[in-house]
Amino acid sequence: MPAGLVAVVTGAASGIGRATVERVVAAGGSAVAMDLDGERLDWVDSTERVAAFAGDVTDEAANLAAVSLAEERFGRVDSVILNAGFPAAGSMEGLPLEQFDRVVEVNLKGPLLGIRAAAPALRRNGGGAIVVTASVSGLGGDPGMFAYNAAKGGVVNLVRAAAIELANQQIRVNAVCPGPIRTHMTEPVIEADPGWAEGLLAHVPLGRWGEADEVAAVIEFLASPAASFVTGVVLPVDGGIRAGSGQFRPPRG
Ligand SMILES: NC(=O)c1ccc[n+]([C@@H]2O[C@H](COP(=O)([O-])OP(=O)(O)OC[C@H]3O[C@@H](n4cnc5c(N)ncnc54)[C@H](O)[C@@H]3O)[C@@H](O)[C@H]2O)c1
Repeated sequence: MPAGLVAVVTGAASGIGRATVERVVAAGGSAVAMDLDGERLDWVDSTERVAAFAGDVTDEAANLAAVSLAEERFGRVDSVILNAGFPAAGSMEGLPLEQFDRVVEVNLKGPLLGIRAAAPALRRNGGGAIVVTASVSGLGGDPGMFAYNAAKGGVVNLVRAAAIELANQQIRVNAVCPGPIRTHMTEPVIEADPGWAEGLLAHVPLGRWGEADEVAAVIEFLASPAASFVTGVVLPVDGGIRAGSGQFRPPRG
């Protein structure tokens, strides 16, 4: 049996997903790196223990194919990291419904399809772990982000329901809820509107942006046997945002 975890990671072209694949490989494991944007999977070196797979998480067949690829290439699947996602900005009265549908499809239905594809493979393996990337935006509301809030809030409870449904099959299901993390998704906004980015940091007790690898480290833990008695948790990785009551800004300096 090959050493390390055999993982499938979605949304792996950049950011948290890529950092997770890099951690799995650095620890001696292997991974299928799946992303909608196959061109940005060009960082994957096919001589390494990583297989690139271009596919859309809203496509049931693509989810099944990614899991099958991991079994064919690496012999089994230990962990499935359902990380693909994206936000949309707009008010409840203004956001085009097609955009709402796509945000819900990718951030909520995507993880459901991922869980459905993963469960049989994890059962064949005698058990395993699923980790979903939700968001602090799934734990409360944000101005102009209702579609993302609704989809990420839904996935938080999907994770809890999946943890209950799959526990007797020795499949653990957990979520991470990142706060503001510097990635391909957020860097253009930070550059375009530094004032907005500063204002956002005023609510982060640790007073800085998180790095993708700081989330990947927590995902790696939840995906690994080190977390063998942990299931159904929704874990903020947010620099302390969720510790506050929301009434006061945290102290600086
Ligand atoms: N960066 C943050 O501040 C932050 C905060 C909270 C939660 N998150 C969540 O973290 C996850 C990873 O985001 P990131 O910040 O690393 O951004 P990222 O843009 O670097 O990575 C997200 C990846 O998901 C892929 N993707 C989008 N739709 C897809 C689909 N339908 N099928 C397959 N792949 C698809 C994108 O191509 C992209 O490569 C997302 O679920 C995001 O919502 C990010």
